Amino acid sequence: MSQIAGLILAAGKGTRMKSDLPKALFRVCGVPMVDLVGRAMRGVGIQRPTVVVGHKGQMLIDGLPNGYDFEWQTEQLGTGHAVLMAAERYRAFEGTILVVPGDVPLLSSDCLRQLIDHHTSSQSLCTVATMKFADPTGYGRIVRDLNERVTEIVEEKDATPEQRSIQEVNSGVYCFDSKTLFATLPQLSSQNAQGEYYLTDVVKLIASTGGVVETCVFADHDLLRGVNDRWQLAEAAHSLRMRMLRQLCLDGVTVVDPATTFIDVDVEVGAETVIHPMTTLTSGTRIGEGCEIGPNALIDKSAVGNFTSVNMSRVNEAIIGSNCKVGPFAHIRPGANIGDHVKIGNFVEIKKSDIADRAAVSHLTYIGDSSIGEGSNIGAGTITCNYDGFAKHRTEIGANAFIGSNSTLVAPLVIGNNVMVAAGSVITKDVPAEALALGRSKQENKEGWVPHWRKRKTSATVSQ
Ligand code: UD1
Ligand code: MG
Repeated sequence: MSQIAGLILAAGKGTRMKSDLPKALFRVCGVPMVDLVGRAMRGVGIQRPTVVVGHKGQMLIDGLPNGYDFEWQTEQLGTGHAVLMAAERYRAFEGTILVVPGDVPLLSSDCLRQLIDHHTSSQSLCTVATMKFADPTGYGRIVRDLNERVTEIVEEKDATPEQRSIQEVNSGVYCFDSKTLFATLPQLSSQNAQGEYYLTDVVKLIASTGGVVETCVFADHDLLRGVNDRWQLAEAAHSLRMRMLRQLCLDGVTVVDPATTFIDVDVEVGAETVIHPMTTLTSGTRIGEGCEIGPNALIDKSAVGNFTSVNMSRVNEAIIGSNCKVGPFAHIRPGANIGDHVKIGNFVEIKKSDIADRAAVSHLTYIGDSSIGEGSNIGAGTITCNYDGFAKHRTEIGANAFIGSNSTLVAPLVIGNNVMVAAGSVITKDVPAEALALGRSKQENKEGWVPHWRKRKTSATVSQ
């Protein structure tokens, strides 16, 4: 195959988004639209796509991962002008340039592969990806001569009423022969309804000099759907989500209700896992096999092992092992690292802590900046007091410790293996292994005190 380079146009304002964020940075299923386009390009072997940036360009550059080159278009004078900004970069390049707008997030590598194959096999100078719409409003129309050869693309605003009735439209995704493209661009004029240098006019110039222009018609309109406003953004996200959920189902995951299951790009879920309604899994989340996730689970950039259940809980940048039970109503925060066979029960918050295998933190507890050893049981209402108003301190609890209910563990603190802490204790000093720690006032019983007290009270009331 001849050489191929990829150019993504993302300098425009995106006025209809009504936002300070550049349009191409809006996320669809957790990933900026322009990066989804870039990923599709990588799928056809374009390792470093070039992005043309302009409006809020630095924000776009900062918002993208590594793996892109950038060209600046400081004034947005049209799509043709945007491509021209990359002329210097491709001066010596011979081959195919794939040009894609930064706002087609559903584009797939398969779709690009088809376009490139058509372009290569037809040996054309330009191949346009087109679609046929019953209502083509807003798109450039593909104009053909009597022999069905493409003669030009006419923008809606410049089209005659007759041209407006053409249903075949330009998706904005093209393959160009690089040399021809950059030789033609300087000839563009901005004498049109929008006063812009249209990339689409390159087609007319190529066709008028006898060059071959091909189209590749895509029946699946979704793939080339452009996002210009926030409703289209929501529609695109819905569409991509359904595509990913379908794939998960085909791979052996049960998705009980796709309509209320929200997953991002870059989410992995193992076979035989059941995802219950109202569950959100964000980019970077990995769920193992045979898990029960949800209902009402939010798992954000976290890893969950096999056969674990996470019910009505929020997990954020954390690791949870296998065969664990989490929730309902648990809050697992960044830096929590939970082993296997662990129970994290209702109204438990865990932050930046290691919880070893077979430990249980079953009710109403806060564990922060701590480590809990294997098999330890943390009673209801236990609080690690990790913050003194100035700094955070650690609590270390050994293996097989038993922390009685409603204990207050004032960090820094080390509690050894096999320790028992009496319920209701306030522990401020380290506890050696095997010890019982009592940190509460001693109980005193005054026998027969209550009837005397009642009698005194009653006679006082009567005599009033
Ligand atoms: C463009 C096509 C139209 C096609 C439609 C498909 C032109 C003239 N028209 O119209 O035929 O049907 O896409 O969605 O190309 N951009 C720049 N610099 C600029 C202007 C635009 O980088 O000066 C970028 C935008 O950020 C955007 C892309 O180019 O990502 C397309 O621009 P847009 O203004 O959306 O073009 P359309 O009017 O949609
Ligand atoms: Mg557009």
